[in-house]
Amino acid sequence: MGDANTRTVVITGGSKGIGRSVAYRFADENARIVIVHFDPSDDACNETIGQLKANGVAAEGYKADISSFEVADQLFRVILEKFENIDVLINNAGITRDTLLLRMSEEIWDDVLRVNLKSVFNCTKAVIRSMSQQRSGAIVNISSVVGQIGNFGQSNYAASKAGIMGFTKSIAREVAGRGINVNAVAPGFVDTEMTQVIPEKAKENFLKQIPFGKMGKPEDVAEAVYWLCSSAAGYITGQVIHVNGGMYM
Ligand SMILES: NC(=O)c1ccc[n+]([C@@H]2O[C@H](COP(=O)([O-])OP(=O)(O)OC[C@H]3O[C@@H](n4cnc5c(N)ncnc54)[C@H](O)[C@@H]3O)[C@@H](O)[C@H]2O)c1
Repeated sequence: MGDANTRTVVITGGSKGIGRSVAYRFADENARIVIVHFDPSDDACNETIGQLKANGVAAEGYKADISSFEVADQLFRVILEKFENIDVLINNAGITRDTLLLRMSEEIWDDVLRVNLKSVFNCTKAVIRSMSQQRSGAIVNISSVVGQIGNFGQSNYAASKAGIMGFTKSIAREVAGRGINVNAVAPGFVDTEMTQVIPEKAKENFLKQIPFGKMGKPEDVAEAVYWLCSSAAGYITGQVIHVNGGMYM
């Protein structure tokens, strides 16, 4: 993976939250960073790109709905044409649409599975040929503790995140011979916009389940992601690394 060389790193959902922290972590090695987001406004993405550029990092942002196969395919063609190769892919984009199964519409189920799981297929498929040809690469998929233990009102989200774990292990087996490692990181309860909407009462309940007694920071997740993409983790593939303060052991 040649940490000494400049790597091209694509981070989906990199405009804010965990993805932004991952981008800042890769900035420390002066990687070329491509951020993909689908926020209604470009503000968060511009802020992230501005911060990266202020630190002398080559960074670009794209707004694209990567839950669409065609959109993702086209986007990665553009990125590959511009940067020639992609060394690291972080499949981090995700959404929640929480409700009890009794009230869950087909649309809500499909939205979450499409954005959280199908996008991982779309983006991984779009890079795997070029990574295979260059015989190196690292892919990290962001799952969730909920994919392991389930959660009230999150059957769609839990299914998508458990699906990511199975996908990760299968692809890890398929591409190991090409020098590509594929792992997942399963965060617990992390302080981002995604969790800011959780009612106080529910937050208190979550905190009781965490031995460390506090939420994780996006940086805690970014550190694990970064390490999995470094040569230090070169013999690690098909794993799910839990970053959850002990919430699930
Ligand atoms: N925050 C947590 O407690 C927590 C816990 C476990 C797992 N996760 C996972 O970590 C990842 C990042 O979460 P976060 O908390 O930073 O979320 P966030 O809401 O702060 O950011 C989500 C990012 O995903 C992007 N995105 C959403 N839909 C997209 C689409 N269709 N196409 C392209 N990009 C899209 C958004 O634009 C944004 O950049 C998600 O996969 C989430 O499920 C978060």
